[in-house]
Amino acid sequence: MSSIDSLAVNLISELVTYFYQHYIFATVLFLITYWILVCLLKPRNLPPGPINIPFFGGSWILTSNPYNDFERLWKKYGNLVSVYVGNKLMIYIFSKRLIKEVYISRGDDFQARVTEDLPFEDVLFHQPYGEAWKKSKKVIVQLHKKFIMNNIENEALKSLEDLSWELQQTQSKLVNPKNLLRQFHTQIIFSLYFNERKPIDDTELKEVGSLMSQVYTATSVHYNSWVLFVPFSSLIFRRALNKPSVVVSKLRRHYEVRYEERLSRIEGKNPSEASDIMEALMIELGDLTKIQIIDTMIILSIDAIHSQTIALQTCLLYLAYYPKLQGEIHDLLDKSTDNQPPNLTHRQDLVLIDALYLETLRTDDILSESSSHRPIKDTTLEGYNIPKNAILVPVSSSIHFDDGIYPNSEKFDPKRFIKDGKLSFKRDEYLSFGIGPRSCTGEQFSRTVVFLTIARLLHQFRISLSMKDYFNEKQLKTTEYFDNSLLDVSLVFSPRR
Ligand code: HEM
Ligand SMILES: *[C@@H]1O[C@H](CO)[C@@H](O)[C@H](O)[C@H]1NC(C)=O
Repeated sequence: MSSIDSLAVNLISELVTYFYQHYIFATVLFLITYWILVCLLKPRNLPPGPINIPFFGGSWILTSNPYNDFERLWKKYGNLVSVYVGNKLMIYIFSKRLIKEVYISRGDDFQARVTEDLPFEDVLFHQPYGEAWKKSKKVIVQLHKKFIMNNIENEALKSLEDLSWELQQTQSKLVNPKNLLRQFHTQIIFSLYFNERKPIDDTELKEVGSLMSQVYTATSVHYNSWVLFVPFSSLIFRRALNKPSVVVSKLRRHYEVRYEERLSRIEGKNPSEASDIMEALMIELGDLTKIQIIDTMIILSIDAIHSQTIALQTCLLYLAYYPKLQGEIHDLLDKSTDNQPPNLTHRQDLVLIDALYLETLRTDDILSESSSHRPIKDTTLEGYNIPKNAILVPVSSSIHFDDGIYPNSEKFDPKRFIKDGKLSFKRDEYLSFGIGPRSCTGEQFSRTVVFLTIARLLHQFRISLSMKDYFNEKQLKTTEYFDNSLLDVSLVFSPRR
């Protein structure tokens, strides 16, 4: 060993001993160095926001109530706020003008999705904006029309027979319909996507439905919990981090069987001969791998099963909470349907049901966080720098609770969406399904199923809460994204006929 080397070894061992003896000093020194490095490496001229502390960034400002957090950030820093959540840069957008700029007029610049924490393979909808995404979005929109929108009424009406029979069996006892609603949606999805109509209490339906909810919850943790953005958190929170991929691999097994069945059938077929949406995807996007097709089908199922269930349950809860509103819909139904079960031909007489759904999502925006986008390259907004890796979050409550846009915005009032007897809302003032080129492809599906379900359930039942759960309006409104307490509320379904 040369003398320089042994000097270095000596020096290091001296230092180690010194820091070992003065570990508090060492820790402080480390934190200060880390902080200085973070500050030096941080991009310049970002939108304003809370100051960063080591490891936590600006996330110390966040609580478990995003509505309150947003309100405070907006008041303090203005329409564009940057917060380092651990080491991720989030940029919250609080104005209609800026949200429109990011999602519509400069939509092409801000179309990349935030996908790195999701346990899926390179799925169609997760691709960065570009030719590949455009092609796949076009295909999926066409297939959606052909295989879903053309059959949705029939399939939903069949499943509604099962659902109302099951609810009839509850004999006006207090029940939580959540699992039943999820089985109902899973039944519809299996019919629509795979041409398989299963009984509503089928074991596989139940399992797939439950896995869909699990994967949603597990991946939401990834999106939102600041804890998981902190460096080294994966060591501490390994269980939570691993969970999504475990759930996804269970789900894939169910979808893989369907994939294999189709593989032999599609030989030599052209797209117009496909008999369901999975077959069509396999023929039309033949360059996708097996796992990409499977994951695309799973992604298309999560919202259609889990989000739909939450949305519908929330609507039912509001109906129980506002008996007068429910009574009005009962009257409209009785007038328009002549004692027959309602279907889409009655929709124009029952605009109030569609309006109820819009108002439910306006006040209780269950999916807004999934509209987070990122710029496709380093760019600017309002003169501030927006780096490529920033996550932009449109804060829908800044529009949905703006009294200038929705007068008396705190009030639950479906009729605000009805003008001259017709449903009416401005696309760029309603964010629940997203806006711009990357907005939700399932919006019509979602609204049609919810319409048919509420019409049918109210045709047959009066829905009420137990007195205990007749909580105040404030609580209904400030639901938090992942506080599913609303979903734990039980309801009574009393037969009307
Ligand atoms: C409860 C009902 C639903 C709500 C509130 C909802 C909301 C949303 C939102 C906010 C986005 C993100 C928009 C953006 O990034 O700007 C989105 C995207 C999407 N949704 Fe929905 N959705 C619902 C149901 C559905 C259903 C039933 C399907 C499928 C059948 C679906 C399929 C999709 C797809 C494929 C995308 C990605 C579109 C793209 O990246 O181009 N959604 N949805
Ligand atoms: C819808 O309801 C009307 C009136 O009850 C009925 O005549 C029609 O056949 C129904 N349509 C479907 C698709 O069930």
